[in-house]
Amino acid sequence: MRITVIGLGYLGVTHAACMAELGFEVLGLDSDAERVAMLSAGSLPFYEPGLSELVSTHTATGRLRFTTSYADIAEFGAAASDGVVHFLCVGTPQQAHSEDADLSSLFSAVERLTPHLVGRCVVVGKSTVPVGTAADVVELLAAHAPAGADPELIWNPEFLREGNAVRDTLRPDRIVFGVRERPGREPESEGLRLLRRVYAEVIAAGVPVVVTDYATAELVKVSANAFLSTKISFLNAVAEVCEVTGADVKQLAEALAHDRRIGGGYLSPGIGFGGGCLPKDLRAFAATAEKLGLESLGFLRSIDAINLATRRRAVSLTVEACGGDVADKRIAVWGAAFKPDSDDIRDSPALWIAAALHDVGATVVVYDPQAMDKARKAHPQLSYADSATDAAVGAHAIVHLTEWDEFRHVSPRALSEVVHARNIVDGRNVLDARDWCAHGWTYRALGRPVVSAT
Ligand code: UDX
Repeated sequence: MRITVIGLGYLGVTHAACMAELGFEVLGLDSDAERVAMLSAGSLPFYEPGLSELVSTHTATGRLRFTTSYADIAEFGAAASDGVVHFLCVGTPQQAHSEDADLSSLFSAVERLTPHLVGRCVVVGKSTVPVGTAADVVELLAAHAPAGADPELIWNPEFLREGNAVRDTLRPDRIVFGVRERPGREPESEGLRLLRRVYAEVIAAGVPVVVTDYATAELVKVSANAFLSTKISFLNAVAEVCEVTGADVKQLAEALAHDRRIGGGYLSPGIGFGGGCLPKDLRAFAATAEKLGLESLGFLRSIDAINLATRRRAVSLTVEACGGDVADKRIAVWGAAFKPDSDDIRDSPALWIAAALHDVGATVVVYDPQAMDKARKAHPQLSYADSATDAAVGAHAIVHLTEWDEFRHVSPRALSEVVHARNIVDGRNVLDARDWCAHGWTYRALGRPVVSAT
């Protein structure tokens, strides 16, 4: 069996490399020639722990190859004796002038792929899409398939998290297959049986499989992301209540997490969610419901609003730490990526807050272990330093915004020597407040009492 992967972003590259790791011959396709050249040379166009090793290993053996040409897909597929599975992994970003998902790359990929399909084959949608998209893809496949080709579409949403992408692909919490025929029909379609073989090793490790119709599979993905966003915003909204009542949201979250019905995952209070998925999926889901004439998901608008308000509260807390005015004061920002173990800065809360502090007059000096190049390009108005300590030189406050491990290990004692004032704002609630205070610092975090040495 052979596998192709169309679209080589975080999702596509990870999926292609993991499929090669599972033992399949894989051909990845992207229209970006520079990206394809980099990957063919065994290197990654972004940072993701563990992925670089997989890509270099499997490109070296030839099991994993990359191309910009759809014609290569036909040739690659023709050599497969046991079936071909084509995974659609293209991005579906938010449209420039609306909240809807931009499906142009997806539909263009389907239109360009379909004429190269041969015989019975499976096309698998992995991109995050609004409900109803799979049905449109089926029509496109039918309209563009050459004589003799009989493609079957299966919707198989991806749930991987950046920073954990390889692990999440090889050992996901669940696998969802959205199929055309009635789910549960016996015997299962040929396409579904083929796809079960692709994931055989993963399924054998005990990962549950849910077979549904297309619409349910599409909705599972957006519901999961919307639920996770809700969990974070809920806690960050409660953090505001904690602030005015003198309570501590971190202890509150710890106590909530012991309730198995609530669970501890995704319950870290802080500056809120960002990245290339959660914010845009939340808006697209709310917009979809509105288009369907439904008011039931109106609360998702509040989830989004709370998230943005949380970022603004982090700016206010930092201004407060600087004595109520940041004009011409130096602020060190630790972190630029939207989360640790990633160099992705899409809709990063850290950079949003850094830019807002700059806008109110502060001199903002940013350091991030991986995302410096991307941050510099996106925010040339900010200053950048080569280390966490360098960023802190002369600072009136340090703002910790992306919870990279290395920030946990910076010594507050050593930093005391270089800063202008010992103010630490912990946007992620992971620093050891007592340790910082023991060295004369004032520790602030959203939803928690201010702690200082005196
Ligand atoms: C998310 C989903 O988790 C994943 O299933 C989906 O496929 C893609 O979108 P990702 O965006 O990579 O993955 O990162 P994730 O770990 O979910 O974090 C998203 C944001 O939420 C980050 O900004 C993170 O800092 C924030 N977050 C997460 C919190 O603020 N608190 C938490 O408790 C958890």
